[in-house]
Amino acid sequence: MSQVLRDARRYEEEKEKLISAKDRPAFHLSARVGWMNDPNGFSYYDGQYHMFYQYHPYDSHWGPMHWGHAVSEDLIHWSYLPAAMAPDRTYDRDGCYSGSALTLPDGRQMLMYTGRQLIYDENGIEQEVQTQCLAFGDGDNYVKYAKNPVITGKDLPEGGNPYAFRDPKLWVEQDGSYRVVIANQDPRHGGQMLLYRSEDGVHWDFVKALMKDDHHMGQMWECPDFFPLDGKQVLLASAQDMLPSGLEYHNGNGTFYFIGDYNWENSDFKPECNYAMDYGIDFYAPQTILTPDGRRVVIGWMQNWDTCNLHTKSTPWFGQMSIPRELSIRDGRIYQAPIRELEALRSDPVRYRDVLVEDTEISLKGVEGRLVDLTLEIEPVEGKELYRKFALRFAQNETFHTGVSFRPYESIVKIDRKFSGSRRAIIHQRRAAVNHDHGRIKLRLILDRFSAEIFVNDGEKVLTATLYTDMAADGISFMANGAAKIHVTQYTLKEM
Ligand code: FRU
Repeated sequence: MSQVLRDARRYEEEKEKLISAKDRPAFHLSARVGWMNDPNGFSYYDGQYHMFYQYHPYDSHWGPMHWGHAVSEDLIHWSYLPAAMAPDRTYDRDGCYSGSALTLPDGRQMLMYTGRQLIYDENGIEQEVQTQCLAFGDGDNYVKYAKNPVITGKDLPEGGNPYAFRDPKLWVEQDGSYRVVIANQDPRHGGQMLLYRSEDGVHWDFVKALMKDDHHMGQMWECPDFFPLDGKQVLLASAQDMLPSGLEYHNGNGTFYFIGDYNWENSDFKPECNYAMDYGIDFYAPQTILTPDGRRVVIGWMQNWDTCNLHTKSTPWFGQMSIPRELSIRDGRIYQAPIRELEALRSDPVRYRDVLVEDTEISLKGVEGRLVDLTLEIEPVEGKELYRKFALRFAQNETFHTGVSFRPYESIVKIDRKFSGSRRAIIHQRRAAVNHDHGRIKLRLILDRFSAEIFVNDGEKVLTATLYTDMAADGISFMANGAAKIHVTQYTLKEM
């Protein structure tokens, strides 16, 4: 093991002890110490789920990337393992960027990641060379391949930018050979997703561009995932620097999916539609796995690149993963549901049916807390005019609240974290167009200490946002402009 990795392991073990469990999310994976971004190598290996992540243990801000490592039996309770990789070779000396994992026939786990090496090009301009590298391991320790890198700028199709070529996502194809899709930029086209093929996992040949963007969505695509789901094929991509498009895509970095058909024999992917993965503020660079019982589960980095550098240096940890979400396709869209294992944390159910909310804010006895799984069904009241707006507020006291509102006439759900502890002039609200049946709509809130995830209509759309509200703000309230009837089911989610 290199000294760089040994140092990181010693450092994280020491510093982790200084972070109290109460200062972390209760059931979302967070950085062991320092900084976390993208999920990496999300896999089921040797009887456990493994999550690696982009990691800078020495600082709560981004820096030379290591791979942090955690394991779980149920995707809810995570235990940290020692960091898996550190930037300790020439080809990755400036960072071990994102990548993925698969299990080899001999039982070893293979990681493919992007090595980052800063160089000065012929014009004296600093550039980052990005190449794809391998490491082999047993679930605890990983050894980098002696002949790294295995895919370089030489393997790019014409026009492909060797300085923007990263985030390999591996899979085993139906005939047992390997595939990897890698994000790249072509200055003429913007983002593109490149497909490579290998018989042994070590020697790779370029096949084709699975998709080219032609400058519709951002400047560069990152973090692909490509998988079958309910008889269709899905390509996930996260784009940098997007222009907004209606209420579907927002300014900045964003994750979207294409649903289409894939012919694996000629590697032809025909996308039919694309939509945002999340309509809130904080969700990026997701990866999926197939669980042993056949569920496709996604986890994203619950952050936003434009707002992730506002905290002080002394913050002991920064960066969380989303709740794992089970995916399905319904009516041509991806539906996301909080993973069912979360239900094991449920306690103290509180139920209310047919509560009238009319032009005042109400709270309901027993409906409160900061670790909450709450389902709210809203309906119009017979014989009365359709309500104009309904608002659910949580993490609330006299000073703070986070809000989700629904306006049936506009068919818009909005998440608002203006009063959620932020002291910065940043984005605090996001809106999504939603379906509803004359004012009937269902919202499910998964609330942890530092985040809220709102699943609309059983996961047809999701809005995710981080929040930094004082823990004393634990009220929940309901408010209608006009008259609405609600049904509420709340569970307190137990500390782990
Ligand atoms: C996406 C990303 C990846 C890259 C990693 C670096 O969030 O920019 O493309 O591999 O983060 O930390």
